[in-house]
Amino acid sequence: MCGIVGYIGEKQAQSILLEGLSKLEYRGYDSAGLAVYNGETIKVNKAKGRLANLEERLAVESLPGVLGIGHTRWATHGKPSDENSHPHVDMAGRFAIVHNGIIENYIELKEELMAKGHVFTSETDTEVVAKLLAELWDGDLVSTVQKAVARLEGAYALGVISEYEPDKLVAVRYASPLVVGVGDGENFIASDIPAILKHTRDVYILEDGEMAILKPDSVTLMRVDGTPVERETMKVNWDIATAEKGGYDHFMMKEIHEQPKAIRDTLSGRVKDGVVDLSQEISLTKEQIKGIEKIHFVACGTAYHAGLVGKTVLEELARIPVECDVASEYRYRNPIITDKTLVVVVSQSGETADTLAALREAKKQGARVIAITNVVGSSVAREADDVIITWAGPEIAVASTKAYTSQLIAIYLLGLYLAQVRGPKTAEQLSEIVNHLMALSTQAEDVLKQEKQIAQFARSMAKNEHLFFLGRGLDYAVALEGSLKLKEISYIHSEAYAAGELKHGTLALIEEGIPVVALATQHAVYDKMVSNIQEVKARGAHVLGLATEGDSELRKTVDEVIHIPKTIDLLTPVLTVIPLQLFAYYACVERGYDVDKPRNLAKSVTVE
Ligand code: F6R
Repeated sequence: MCGIVGYIGEKQAQSILLEGLSKLEYRGYDSAGLAVYNGETIKVNKAKGRLANLEERLAVESLPGVLGIGHTRWATHGKPSDENSHPHVDMAGRFAIVHNGIIENYIELKEELMAKGHVFTSETDTEVVAKLLAELWDGDLVSTVQKAVARLEGAYALGVISEYEPDKLVAVRYASPLVVGVGDGENFIASDIPAILKHTRDVYILEDGEMAILKPDSVTLMRVDGTPVERETMKVNWDIATAEKGGYDHFMMKEIHEQPKAIRDTLSGRVKDGVVDLSQEISLTKEQIKGIEKIHFVACGTAYHAGLVGKTVLEELARIPVECDVASEYRYRNPIITDKTLVVVVSQSGETADTLAALREAKKQGARVIAITNVVGSSVAREADDVIITWAGPEIAVASTKAYTSQLIAIYLLGLYLAQVRGPKTAEQLSEIVNHLMALSTQAEDVLKQEKQIAQFARSMAKNEHLFFLGRGLDYAVALEGSLKLKEISYIHSEAYAAGELKHGTLALIEEGIPVVALATQHAVYDKMVSNIQEVKARGAHVLGLATEGDSELRKTVDEVIHIPKTIDLLTPVLTVIPLQLFAYYACVERGYDVDKPRNLAKSVTVE
């Protein structure tokens, strides 16, 4: 977690660093800090809490200088506090560093350094790196950094500056993301591209074990052992406005409304004449596709919920047995993996530590790995055998919305692509599904038109502390996602249940006035679902039903109903999730919480 930035050039670093950090606050916002070299010494200013707190301090005591580093923190080792904020320095203040990741052997290093007289002022793992640099100083910054990182175990993206060599900024990456922005007479580092996009579109994405030495007029890449690295810069063609709120009150709302476009973009270029073509993305031969014996979806949180939909979709379309695992559990349950296992990891950020670890384990055991991710060049994208990028664009709100729907689209594309080779569905049957798939983006626009009604229901329910989501089949998978969305931003306790399970225990919790959101879009289990709704109605629940257009029956059972446009059962999750996202959003706003930055959470979870 955490976000880091760095600048070297001719302009004042402070405002550039602060602006960069504002684009990285989604990575954590427990504290923020800057270190800037003022021509003589390195000065540090840092503050617990949001970036605004640091800005207030800098308004009183600014940091002049043209070389600096900055950090926004999501606490891992040590509580959020001024002392634990980054940057960290050595005792003499000659080195300042910012760090994203976890130094696993920090206790051992700390004891060693303390025994040599270094005095620590924070509880962080990061501080050992600053002290280690001072301890290992050999008169050359690059070689000292190399010696220091050779002692580190764990994950780190580091930005280092030193009074000894103020003509350079040194960056190192191992298992935490880091990009280098190449400007004109100035250069940048950042955890993520939006932080530097205003200044440059030419970037290097550092690989694990690489370092970059930035001077105002040059960037030199090398491995940490000193081996030179030659690489072209990558051109980023995002519009900077896509990283802004675009007129909405919150990023989450903007991103909910971007879903029709995200769906269209994710489909774009991948369907030709009613046939899915992923040959650019997937290098599996027809024989290899025919040889797949099972599929494992592995992911966390919302991406895991997309995987749950994927289980049903892939089994239905390609008739391959599918399992879906939470990534943090996968490695530890000793899953049965062979070279005929296809592992599909799903990750918006492509940096989630648990997902990455699961990917590595699957590869180690011989599986073929496909990544579905939203971030080009992310760790997951680079390490998987094949990658299907979801073209949702940058997702800033912590609560994932458009990434989820585009993950679903990628999953449908994958299912259809495999099914085209394996059968058993006929080409006509598959092409009909493709037609429905292509209609989803317009249908999503129609769902969004019901925003007012959903907002009203959410406002009227927002005072409740408990709520239930019910569904069967794919509706249950979506219910899980609706429940997570509500919990994470509105802090209302909610549970999602496969409606048939209610009578096995949960029904005991249903009492007069309890709100229930019931999804009833799956035809094969529709009657049973209606019976389950009646069970909660009979106990006094207040029910919002989600039905398919043309269903005039459900209205008779529930208190209020939202209709989604008609599609085939397999594709409904893309549409049913939208009212649930809006519901969570309006409940959160009604309760007065921070929509885009819910407490205790961060956008990219790069620690296990
Ligand atoms: C919830 C949410 C999280 C993420 C999870 C995985 O709204 O966003 O549950 O889905 O942390 O993140 P990625 O997809 O980046 O691997």
